Amino acid sequence: MRATISKAKIEDLDDVLRLEQRVWNDNTVNNKYDLGTSIRFGHAFVAKHRGKVVGAILAMRTADGSVFVQDWFVDPNHRGKGIGRTLYSKLIESAAAPIVTLVSPKFSASVAVHKKLGFKPVKLVKNAYFVGDTARFLMRKESKRSDNDSE
Ligand SMILES: CC(C)(COP(=O)(O)OP(=O)(O)OC[C@H]1O[C@@H](n2cnc3c(N)ncnc32)[C@H](O)[C@@H]1OP(=O)(O)O)[C@@H](O)C(=O)NCCC(=O)NCCS
Repeated sequence: MRATISKAKIEDLDDVLRLEQRVWNDNTVNNKYDLGTSIRFGHAFVAKHRGKVVGAILAMRTADGSVFVQDWFVDPNHRGKGIGRTLYSKLIESAAAPIVTLVSPKFSASVAVHKKLGFKPVKLVKNAYFVGDTARFLMRKESKRSDNDSE
């Protein structure tokens, strides 16, 4: 099964939001205004299979010039087929800057995947979002020119 990766368009907003909220089982994980902002002004890519959104990566440039990944997700029915990695590769190529993200220590799989993608844990941020239990690892991947990852 192949998926097509493309830059997200504003017409994709509702589908991306629905999938994101389904993946996290959380209707507050994003809202259409935040999502619309990352689609219009950030680095946002979608994976589509037969015209249906099956994954996305959403990121914005930060004040220090790095690119912060707000979310990265693939439809559970389409995981393990390289879609997630391809989405990240697109982002890395498009960002051409260090990439940072916050990953829950509880998601050991996600921490492991980020390490595979060349990220290094920088520090544990104890209360990343000031709601509930939101300790997160700040993970960072240097841009290609400054690292020697094998990607
Ligand atoms: C994380 C996620 C986006 C990966 O998407 P995916 O399409 O299944 O990933 P891929 O098939 O491209 O696999 C990418 C790499 O991660 C590895 N991987 C994927 N799932 C894994 C898991 N549960 N445990 C360990 N490694 C895993 C794969 O082996 C692959 O490495 P390889 O290319 O060296 O073989 C997807 O599992 C997901 O949506 N999870 C829920 C949301 C989430 O946790 N997002 C991350 C937020 S920090």
